[in-house]
Amino acid sequence: MSSNYLYTDLSGYYDLMCLDISYHAQSYGVQRLHKLFGNNGQTHLDLACGTGPHIRHFIDFGYQSSGLDVNQPMLDQAKSRCPEAQLLLGDMCGFEVDEPLDLITCFLYSIHYSDGIEKLEQCVASAHRALKPGGMFCFNSVDKNKIDNNLFEQHTVVQGGSLFTFRSAWHYPGEGEKQSLKLSIEKTTGGITHSWEDEHPMVASGFEELTKILQSFFDVHILEHDYERIVPWDNTSGNAIFVCVKA
Ligand SMILES: C[S@@+](CC[C@H](N)C(=O)[O-])C[C@H]1O[C@@H](n2cnc3c(N)ncnc32)[C@H](O)[C@@H]1O
Repeated sequence: MSSNYLYTDLSGYYDLMCLDISYHAQSYGVQRLHKLFGNNGQTHLDLACGTGPHIRHFIDFGYQSSGLDVNQPMLDQAKSRCPEAQLLLGDMCGFEVDEPLDLITCFLYSIHYSDGIEKLEQCVASAHRALKPGGMFCFNSVDKNKIDNNLFEQHTVVQGGSLFTFRSAWHYPGEGEKQSLKLSIEKTTGGITHSWEDEHPMVASGFEELTKILQSFFDVHILEHDYERIVPWDNTSGNAIFVCVKA
């Protein structure tokens, strides 16, 4: 059963949940990759931009940065963080832009929000169409064959007199093209606990299958999932950064 509190009613807690993420390191790392693999342009679109933390960094690096997300409450948060950015409500699996772009990003495994392999192909095709020649599409992905359903991440944060506990875990049933992201939020204030459970349906793919899709559009480089070092993927890890360059 899917539920989506985090990107709607609870979008105000999203940044708290992501407090441990170094958005600067991720944005800086991709900017470095763009310098190496891309053109010298500065127009950028962040797909599934959420509350806009990457857009903020790209603007500060000098990019003309914009964002697209399917949930308006997330875009509302992005607007307060990046008032100068153009923010579009839409589905990354079928978007168009007015002017071709130099860089398109999609962080935090959000490309998996494509609803099935066909939609994933449509997302890749949309990104390809929206880029200038020499433009770059960069995202990270998890290989469905490497998901361990027993692993989860958890952290706690105290804010405004409340204790928050956030948990997240991948779940892959072992076959097929669907996986899910399970999230839970617990908020305890004055001894009273409220909790919410989300389950987000996502596309599952192996890196071999994903690479085949990408290679029908782009020159593809697969790198280790490390935003601070540029290291070719070792053909083993279950997480990787995909750098796709339009010929
Ligand atoms: C895990 S959050 C990532 C947000 C941001 N990129 C970050 O790194 O913090 C996933 C985002 O994807 C958005 N999303 C989900 N499905 C989408 C779709 N089909 N098209 C565009 N955005 C989508 C959600 O609204 C949410 O903001």
